[in-house]
This record gives sequence, C-alpha cells and structure tokens, in this order.
Amino acid sequence: MTIFLPGATIGFFGGGQLARMSALAARSMGYDVHVLDPDPDCPAAAVASHVITAKYDDIDASIAFARTCDVITLDIEQVATESIAAASVHATVHPGAAPIHIIQDRGRQKEWLQQRGFPVSPFRIARSPLEIAAAFDALGRSIAKTTSGGYDGRGQARIRSPHDLPAASALTELATVVVEQWIELAGELSVMVARNSRGEVRTFPVSWNHHDNGVLTWAMTPAPVNHGTADAAIALATSIAHALDIVGLLAVELFVTADETLMVNELAPRPHNTFHATERACLTSQFEQQIRAVCGLPLGSTELLTAGAIVNLLGDLWRSDTDHPDWERALEVPGVRLHLYGKKVAKPGRKMGHLSAVGPTPQAARDAVLDAYGRLLPR
Ligand SMILES: Nc1ncnc2c1ncn2[C@@H]1O[C@H](COP(=O)(O)OP(=O)(O)OP(=O)(O)O)[C@@H](O)[C@H]1O
Ligand SMILES: [Mg+2]
Repeated sequence: MTIFLPGATIGFFGGGQLARMSALAARSMGYDVHVLDPDPDCPAAAVASHVITAKYDDIDASIAFARTCDVITLDIEQVATESIAAASVHATVHPGAAPIHIIQDRGRQKEWLQQRGFPVSPFRIARSPLEIAAAFDALGRSIAKTTSGGYDGRGQARIRSPHDLPAASALTELATVVVEQWIELAGELSVMVARNSRGEVRTFPVSWNHHDNGVLTWAMTPAPVNHGTADAAIALATSIAHALDIVGLLAVELFVTADETLMVNELAPRPHNTFHATERACLTSQFEQQIRAVCGLPLGSTELLTAGAIVNLLGDLWRSDTDHPDWERALEVPGVRLHLYGKKVAKPGRKMGHLSAVGPTPQAARDAVLDAYGRLLPR
C-alpha cells in the first residue's frame, strides 16, 4: 500500500462543498491541495493552492492535473472514467475507475446491487415513453429518475397515476431512466464506510435523515433505531464497500420500511451531506477520514463523542443578493455552529451551507439546529 504522508499534494476532482471541507481537513494535516473543477470560483478554490478549470471529461486537463498531484480523490461521481484512467497513469486515484463506473450510472448501480443480492426497490430501466408506461403497469406507484446527471431530487418525476406519465416520459429525452417502485418509508438511514487499500474498514454511527420533496433537510446521529437495525445497516454497507473494492469513502443511503426492512436507495463514493455532524459528534470527521483512507494512513476512530445534527441551508433562504438570513439570531442558540460554503450566488434548492449542533440525544441536537434555522427566517 502506497502511503502519502503530510507534505504530499492531494487532488480533488470536483471542488464543491464536500471537497472544500475535506481540503480543510487535509490542510490541517499539512497536505497541499489542488482542485479540478469547471468553475474557477468553486467552494474548494478558497482552500486549494492550485485550481485547474476544466470539465470532468477533459482528458488533457486531467493528465496535467494528475502530474501536479501525488494522490487524487473526488467529491463528485460524475467524473468521466476516461479522465480517472488517464489521471491514474500519473498519480494514485482513489476511488478508482471501476467503482466509479458502477456508481455513476444509477441504472448500472441498481443492476449491480440487485445481481449481488443487495436489497433494492423493484425497478425497470426505460428509454422511451412506451417503456415508462410499461414500467408503471408493472410496478404501480413509482418514481422515475434519470440514470445520470440528477442530484438533490433533480431529474426525477413521481408517477402516482397515468396523469403523471407525460412528465416522467419527458425524462427519457434527457437520459435513460430508472423507474423504481415507490416505497412507503418509515424512515431513511445512511451509513458511511471508510476503506483503505488493505481492505480495512471503519464505519461511522448510522445517520437518520429527513427529506422534503426529495432533498435532505436535516440529519441526526446516532439514528434512533434499534441496535439490530443499525447493525444490519452497517453490515450491508460494509459488504457493498468490499464488493466494490472501493478505496476511500462509500456512503450508502438506505430506506427503512415500517417492519424495519432495509433497502439500498443509492451509493455515493465520497463524503455525504448526512455525515457533516461527524465533525463534532465523532472522534474523527468524515472529511479527515477521507484523507486518511486515500493517503493510506491509519483510519481514524469513529467513536461517537456526543449526539449531533445538521440542518441544510438552501438558497431559498436568501430573499435577494443583499438580504441575508438572520445569522445573529440563529447563532444565539447555544452550541449551534454556522458552516457556509462560500457560494457567491444563492439559487433555490442550492446547498449554501448548514447549521450543526451537538446534544445529549440526537433529538435534542436536531431541535437545536431546527430552532436556530427558524430564527434565520424573516420575523
Ligand atoms: N422509491 C422511492 N420510494 C420512496 N421515496 C423515494 C424513492 N426514491 C426516492 N425517494 C425519496 O426521494 C429522495 C431523493 O431520492 P434520491 O436519493 O434517489 O435522489 P438524489 O437526487 O440522488 O438525491 P440526493 O442527491 O439528495 O441524494 C430519497 O432520499 C427519498 O426521500
Ligand atoms: Mg439520495
């Protein structure tokens, strides 16, 4: 296993908020940070010593980038595997092209999971309006999702009745579509696995996640579920990480049904929005863990210090460029911290930052962030 010690240069494909927070952890540990992103003003640019402005399928730029880095990781799965392969000639890249190839296409990912016996909601792949209609006939109430390019609930259409078929069919003009059966959820969980190139793994305490309209609103840890469910979630996610042979982080989003059956919703090979509270709740944050995993350092202890929670700050909170949320009132709530990603333009649905809190119970931490969140809104 190659080890990259402090002083080495870590590259990030993708300079969003996840890379920004991991880059801060890397900088704290004495690493240099370079970023490749289509946007020169991306959130991680403020932390990187060098930013290459290029698209994720630009092979020449990926090679030039890799030549300046010792080890490369990513904060987005939509990097062309050709770019990863080209970069791999000049630097170590974790995760590698093979797991990214499987994960980056939602259809391929679901087929891979299903073929290996991992539980997923019943689904059909659809490429035309006719196939969308056939999938709805077979599955009943369902949700159509483009196989690539979607995130935070974008590129999705719910199908409750035949009236919804035109909107779902329109997605086939953008990309191939996965039609998934709608699951009556009792809740949503996520598991974060860190795995190094020796195959050693560490998992964080399970997170409980609340979504509104397909977008994560808040998350709390540890998830208030019975031990059997938490252990089953961790075992499932760990098996997936081994089967993918992934090095770095793997977040596994899970659905929980009323009888506490688990189903895999989707995989993310990078830090995850639902584990931001690990910065305060665990001995090691997910961001430092990513750096340790890809650099071949000992994986950090994921022991829980205290319960924690986060609430997302979406661009909708900004009523205009000059009218900011009421930070002072929110920060009056004891123990609440503000995390902003340095995004210059607030757009509806755009993740601009989050609030975090810790507490004696996950619910107490959640109540603290929601209290602070309520104070951001105009009186
Ligand atoms: N089959 C389903 N049954 C019930 N709810 C679903 C289903 N699929 C998605 N959802 C709801 O929509 C949310 C977002 O779905 P999904 O994770 O597939 O989208 P995404 O765009 O990748 O989101 P993100 O980037 O926020 O993870 C889920 O977390 C869940 O709340
Ligand atoms: Mg999701």
